Amino acid sequence: MYQNTTFLTNRLRQREQMGLLRQLHSGSNLVDFCSNDYLGLARSPALRQAIQQTDYQRTSVLNGATGSRLLAGHTSLADKVETQLAAFYQTESALVFNSGYDANIGLLSSLPQRGDVLLTDELIHASMIDGARLSYAERHRFMHNNLDHLSTLLREARDQKTPSIFVAVESVYSMDGDMAPLAELVGLCADYEAHLIVDEAHATGVYGINGEGRVVELGLQDRVLARVHTFGKGLGVHGAAVVGSGLLRNYLINTARSFIYTTALPPHSLLAIQCAHEQLPILTEQRAKLHQHVVFFRDIALQRMPTACWTDSSSPIQCLLIKGNKACRAVAARAQGAGFDVRAILSPTVPVGQERIRICLHSFNAESEIAGLIDTLAS
Ligand SMILES: Cc1ncc(COP(=O)(O)O)c(C=O)c1O
Repeated sequence: MYQNTTFLTNRLRQREQMGLLRQLHSGSNLVDFCSNDYLGLARSPALRQAIQQTDYQRTSVLNGATGSRLLAGHTSLADKVETQLAAFYQTESALVFNSGYDANIGLLSSLPQRGDVLLTDELIHASMIDGARLSYAERHRFMHNNLDHLSTLLREARDQKTPSIFVAVESVYSMDGDMAPLAELVGLCADYEAHLIVDEAHATGVYGINGEGRVVELGLQDRVLARVHTFGKGLGVHGAAVVGSGLLRNYLINTARSFIYTTALPPHSLLAIQCAHEQLPILTEQRAKLHQHVVFFRDIALQRMPTACWTDSSSPIQCLLIKGNKACRAVAARAQGAGFDVRAILSPTVPVGQERIRICLHSFNAESEIAGLIDTLAS
């Protein structure tokens, strides 16, 4: 084994001393208030069966893609799935990426170019931040959901005669569960001829009549340059797509390095994406249940813990703020001990002082489980 690793030990020790050491935990038998499987599709026997009944059974389907999409990895199946996704998300085209992380990296590193300006909400996901870091454009952060601050930055960028201005937000914020004011954002972007990019990771499957996300729910699909839909959360499978115009798709095929320089998704992943999207429209009951659970949760949580600090969220992501990594970890451990799988989100993933217990609600949670969790947190 390689021996010269003192520097790794030292760095990890430093993290540990700061209370920042991350560790992997495998699945538990606790009640799931942690996963992003909002509608239970990851554990759905119907979805499993649908996937098994596809072409996957045919020997002609390869085990792997064998190359990147621009080389050996492109298939008629990928074309077919992208056509299905474009129709589902009510737009002209879709381009599948291997994950939401890859989609955001590819999109944000390739759209804003040198001389352009990229304005990002201060709470956007790490994958968008990393994509922005790879871009040569100038980046400024605006205060979370603060339209006045964004207007000021847009005005400055326009006054500097910036060739292209981009604004990047999440429709449902992954760490706070609150939503971007999309209707206002499209208006503001139009005023300044800026292009809006919306990450729909936590809205996909959950919002819209069939789970098309917030942009379609609000009828804004023609006013947004690009949307990112991820399939590892509400869809219960894996992968992601950027949806928008055919021109956008061609542009990304030519410039998005996380699309170009990687082996494409294997056929069984594409088939899983296809089947999960076929299931979404029939999950009306599950979606309704999920939203009922959010109302139920908020009612009891605010009643039982009126002075606690909850994020202002009407989505399935609910957070209880508990200052300090240590204290936050202790509360999560207590809830886990009582049988509930909730996790502490620590700084620096969130700003210091805003550490939190992140609770994800699912259609399959029982009301008694939700009430039990709140009782435990309250105690
Ligand atoms: C808002 C947001 N965007 C993108 C991603 C990345 O998606 P994926 O897990 O498919 O890589 C995540 C997942 O953590 C997310 O929360």
